[in-house]
Parts: sequence; structure tokens; C-alpha cells
Amino acid sequence: MDFVHKSIMLAETIESLCIKPDGIYVDGTLGGGGHSLEIAKRLDAGGRLIGIDQDGDAIEAAGKRLAPYADRVTIVRSNYADMKKVLHDLGIEKVDGILLDLGVSSYQLDNGERGFTYREDVPLDMRMDVRQERTARDIVNTYSETELYHIIRDYGEDKFAKNIAKHIVLARKEESVETTGQLTEIIKAAIPKKVRAVGGHPAKKTFQAIRIELNHELDVLKGHLEEMVGLLDDGGRLCVITFHSLEDRIVKNIFRTCENPCICPPGFPVCTCGRKPKGRVITRKPIVPGEEELKENSRAKSAKLRVFERIVSKE
Ligand SMILES: C[S@@+](CC[C@H](N)C(=O)[O-])C[C@H]1O[C@@H](n2cnc3c(N)ncnc32)[C@H](O)[C@@H]1O
Repeated sequence: MDFVHKSIMLAETIESLCIKPDGIYVDGTLGGGGHSLEIAKRLDAGGRLIGIDQDGDAIEAAGKRLAPYADRVTIVRSNYADMKKVLHDLGIEKVDGILLDLGVSSYQLDNGERGFTYREDVPLDMRMDVRQERTARDIVNTYSETELYHIIRDYGEDKFAKNIAKHIVLARKEESVETTGQLTEIIKAAIPKKVRAVGGHPAKKTFQAIRIELNHELDVLKGHLEEMVGLLDDGGRLCVITFHSLEDRIVKNIFRTCENPCICPPGFPVCTCGRKPKGRVITRKPIVPGEEELKENSRAKSAKLRVFERIVSKE
């Protein structure tokens, strides 16, 4: 299957990165290399781009796409959680820009073999990194009803979460849930017919929830965003594209704390906590896709881009 993925807010992201031809840039979610290709084109022989992805298929596809710029591009199969180490191993301590375009690629969603899809009946998988042992099958068959309820409610934002969790647990008492088709049928049975007839695919939200849980998507983001701000050189920019309200909230809050980390009680005449601002938030409100993009790409609908600029304190 060809690696097909339309890059989200491509022009807006490239503009926000303020690329210097001789700068060092990191794409922490390389995917098919759509954003990276535009970064690489703007670099001269003195510039460098490090592309990271945990998915072997993405690494292969991006490698081919970026081959004309191989002299300035390094591709590493890794989790962006390990960005600091990946850069250190390459002899890099500071960079001029970092991009995260979160979530899954259309290729991962649409390729039946990867087990993310509710449109085909295939083995439940959903691993972004297939070297990992645990799959979606393990979550569906071993999580307690309460755990399933919480992830479907919080990561799927599905108002029928409680009933879906109940139906999953009932169904798996009969036989283990092995395929996306089985899970889709269970979800359909848990949602009232009237609701099923309108709105999107009934399984969409639950599948999203299981994928986020399996790949630790929110924990990885929360645990490493501040460290990425620290990797930026003076004037360097961190651009993050999110697709989920919880993801966006994490980015908004961490950027805000980086801009104003002081924890002294309000009204204190001078700061005594010693926490210095790390830079400034460029996007008070997130950048969202324009009408044209929304018309052409339904995946862009929930996308939000937030940008932070590092300012190194001179004291
Ligand atoms: C939306 S796609 C990126 C698309 C890319 N910007 C483009 O234009 O082609 C997200 C990619 O990030 C990867 N990914 C998600 N979380 C990751 C993580 N924690 N570490 C490394 N890669 C990750 C996925 O495997 C997927 O290939």
C-alpha cells in the first residue's frame, strides 16, 4: 500500500517555524515526510534536519521522499520522547526549531494490516511501533469495565462510553475480541439506533480512545514538551499540531507555564522562587486550518497549531 497522507496546515507550520537556511530542525513525528520535505527544501548545505518516527513504514516512506536532500537530513526510528538522547548521540545539544504533528497518519489509519480501521475486519492491533508487544487486543480483552469506560469517555469523548464498556465486557465473556469487525459490531449494539443513523461512524470515538491509550499518546506529550522547549536555541520555535481537545489543553498549559513559570504568591513584591520565563507564546489563540483545507481534508477538522518561541534569559 502506498504511503498517502496530506500534511495538515503545511504553509502555516512552515511559516511559524521561521526557518533559517543554516539552522538545525527536528521533526518529531516524521510520518510520510510532508512537513519535513518543505523544511529540507529551505535549508542550505549548512543546515540540518533530524526526522524522528517510531513507525517503520513511515521511516521507509519518508526516507524515499527526502532522498534528494540526504546530505542534510538524518532519519531516526525512535519515540520523540527520546529526542534529547537522539540529538545528543548525533552531537547536537541545541536546535532552531522543533515540529510535532501528533496522532496517526492517514496511511496508518487506512492500511488494514495495521489494525486501526473500523472499515475492514482485520486483527485488532493499533500499534504505531510494531516492536511493542501490547496491542489493542490486549486492552479490549483485559482492561476492567471501569478502565474501559474511563478511556472511552476521556479519550473518545463518547457519551455512550459506559454502555460501550459494558457491552465489550459482556461480549468478551462469550469469546475473546480479536478483530476490528467484532469490536465494531459490539460498539454498534451499545449505541441507540437513532443516534447511529446520524453523525459519524459509531466506532470512531472508541477506536480513537483505544489507540491513544495503547500508544500512551497524552503521557508522552505531557512528559516531554517542556524538555523540548529546553532544547531550543535563543529564538528557536516549537510548533505543535494537535487533533484532540486533551492534547491541545496539554500544549496550551505547558506553553503558558514556560512563559510564566513563577510560583510566588500573587502580590509578592519580588519573585523569590527564581523560576525564569523560557520564552513567549506566539499563538494566544491556536492557528486552525483555512476553509479551503477543511473542504479538501476532513482530517484537518479538529487540528490546532500552537507555537512557542524560546528566549534565553541574558542574566
Ligand atoms: C500525523 S502523522 C505525521 C505526518 C507528517 N507531518 C507528514 O506531513 O507527512 C504522525 C506521525 O507521528 C508518529 N508518531 C506519533 N507519536 C509518536 C511518538 N511518540 N514518537 C515518534 N513518532 C510518533 C506516527 O507514527 C505518525 O507517523
